Amino acid sequence: MSLIQYPTIDQQQNEARLAHTNKSPRREFLKGLSATAVALSVNPAQAQAQVIKNPTNQTESKPMTFTLPDLPYAHDALQPYMSKETLEYHHDKHHLAYVTNGNNLLKGTEWEGKSLEDIVKGSFGKNAGLFNNAGQHYNHLHFWHWMKPNGGGAIPGKVEKAIIDGIGSVDKMKEEFIQAGVTQFGSGWCWLAVKDGKVIVTKTANGESPLVQGATPILGCDVWEHSYYIDYRNRRPDYLKAFIENLVNWAYVEEMYEAAIK
Ligand SMILES: [Fe+2]
Repeated sequence: MSLIQYPTIDQQQNEARLAHTNKSPRREFLKGLSATAVALSVNPAQAQAQVIKNPTNQTESKPMTFTLPDLPYAHDALQPYMSKETLEYHHDKHHLAYVTNGNNLLKGTEWEGKSLEDIVKGSFGKNAGLFNNAGQHYNHLHFWHWMKPNGGGAIPGKVEKAIIDGIGSVDKMKEEFIQAGVTQFGSGWCWLAVKDGKVIVTKTANGESPLVQGATPILGCDVWEHSYYIDYRNRRPDYLKAFIENLVNWAYVEEMYEAAIK
């Protein structure tokens, strides 16, 4: 079966979810490619600088539109735990679709010109189409940085202490994190988040995140099938174990933890 002919459940869900826009995600993807190229061509140096110097500044600044950042590593850099093919689909197509659809759905709303976090929090429960795409854009912006080649390993001391204080032990955190991902029915995410000053494990459906649970995410793993089905098929537990043991960029988790407790 060719790559293009391989429809995942995620793609079908995404298509159904976005059906009210009367725009095919595949057509939107093609349109998005040219739109992104145009957007980047306006000031590519500035766009690139934003990606490299502060890859998640879309969560903090006030962008007029969402943009797709480059991956912070090569598409094949996370192998064997996450394949080049998965990242080509997941980043280049799925994330781009959220960006393209999010920009279309943001136009003319009260959230135009707001920060990404404000759009995510503000549209939750009020504008499902915008929320789904903005929420997924926020989640994926961080997701690429929550992973790195040769990830996993030692957890920075301050984060490790916060995990032990909040959850009991690092082993218990890993067990609960994997369990949250395994038991998330259908598409969604599992998380480490800071709530009321404590590190917790939680899970959310679809494009939601701890942001809409009164908490701040510091680590998230995408358990939509588009994130693991090419590499792991239905073995979601194996994907989650590989993520926590071999992919997590704990330095980025530490950065988000520091920001969350300020
Ligand atoms: Fe995803």
